[in-house]
Amino acid sequence: MCKDSRKAVSRANISARNTTSRRAGFSAFIALVLAVVTFTGAPTARAVGNAPSTVAANPPAAPKKIIIDTDPGTDDALAILLALNSPELDVRALTVVPGNVTAQQGLENALKLASLTNRCDIPVAGGAQHPLFQKLITAELWHGANGLANVELPASKCKADPRFGPDLIIQMIHDSPHEITLVPVGPLTNIALALLKDPSIVPLVKEVVIMGGSISGGNVNAAAEANIYNDPEAAQIVFHAGWRLTMVGLDVGDKTLYDQAHLDQLSKTHGPENDFAVKVLTFLIGQEAKYGAGGGSPMYDPLAVGTAVDPSIVVTQAMHVDVESRGEFTRGETVANRRNAVERNVLHGDRYIIEGVDHVEPNVQVCTGVNADKFLQLLNSRLAGK
Ligand code: BDR
Ligand code: CA
Repeated sequence: MCKDSRKAVSRANISARNTTSRRAGFSAFIALVLAVVTFTGAPTARAVGNAPSTVAANPPAAPKKIIIDTDPGTDDALAILLALNSPELDVRALTVVPGNVTAQQGLENALKLASLTNRCDIPVAGGAQHPLFQKLITAELWHGANGLANVELPASKCKADPRFGPDLIIQMIHDSPHEITLVPVGPLTNIALALLKDPSIVPLVKEVVIMGGSISGGNVNAAAEANIYNDPEAAQIVFHAGWRLTMVGLDVGDKTLYDQAHLDQLSKTHGPENDFAVKVLTFLIGQEAKYGAGGGSPMYDPLAVGTAVDPSIVVTQAMHVDVESRGEFTRGETVANRRNAVERNVLHGDRYIIEGVDHVEPNVQVCTGVNADKFLQLLNSRLAGK
């Protein structure tokens, strides 16, 4: 971020101490980011058109309409497979954001996944090319050189949708008011861009279920979770949009360890998706043993989808959450106020005196508990034999 931009963000953050000035500061922040939107822009060229659809038989009566915004990514791929094999969900679009891999690689991966599942009827659209204010950080270390555990899927039969991801999100929300659940499982750049371009989508969205954040330490460093760390300014915009937002963070994701026993179970069944998932999960368990804590691989993104499938899998608590953007050691941390209260310090001469305690409104349903066994069985059962 340039020096002036950082100053402006700082001003916005400092002014967030009381309600009136918070609104003013946030407006300044939005204005600043709108300028960046032009810079971020849409990709210049995309392939056009979609192949004929192959829709799963007997869809359930009223599945939840979701849009998955994703940076695919190994666990993103598993999340997409879970969603597409869950009758409770109606996946309306996949929009791609850079994160685990570049925007171009992510789009290719999303198209290959749509193709693997014979779902060329689902629009797959590229979006932002980089985070709002910082350089892209990719994670091939964790996801393989191609982002899909180095598994080479066949070339996609599906074609990219020509629309810009955030525009597609806006359009779909207006087309199905109060029906769309957004499930972002990557950095929040695309969602922030959609909000900045058309804030009127906020009351029209049914719910937002994100994979990201943590109230108990990070995975990138001591403080920050990767999706938030990779675009903290976008995350702050999304967290404070005023819609119902559930944060499926590391606090619960780290408890959903997919281990060798789960893998052995899934390896007994076969099918193109099942077999692909086994390869991806084998890779993930190996990477976790090499670089992580071992004991299995956390199913971060699949858990966000699992929460959309069955909210009873998680326990939530309403909290006021801000995203730290300036801390030397804490940039990208999701700072949760568990009591939803702040002391009111008023300057009296050369010191501040606490004059009261102000209530702060919760803006996030933070997942604090998870039924990991139930979720992991759901995941395996939905992938088995597919
Ligand atoms: C998140 O970061 C990415 O590497 C994963 O796909 C997941 O969305 C976990 O911190
Ligand atoms: Ca992801």
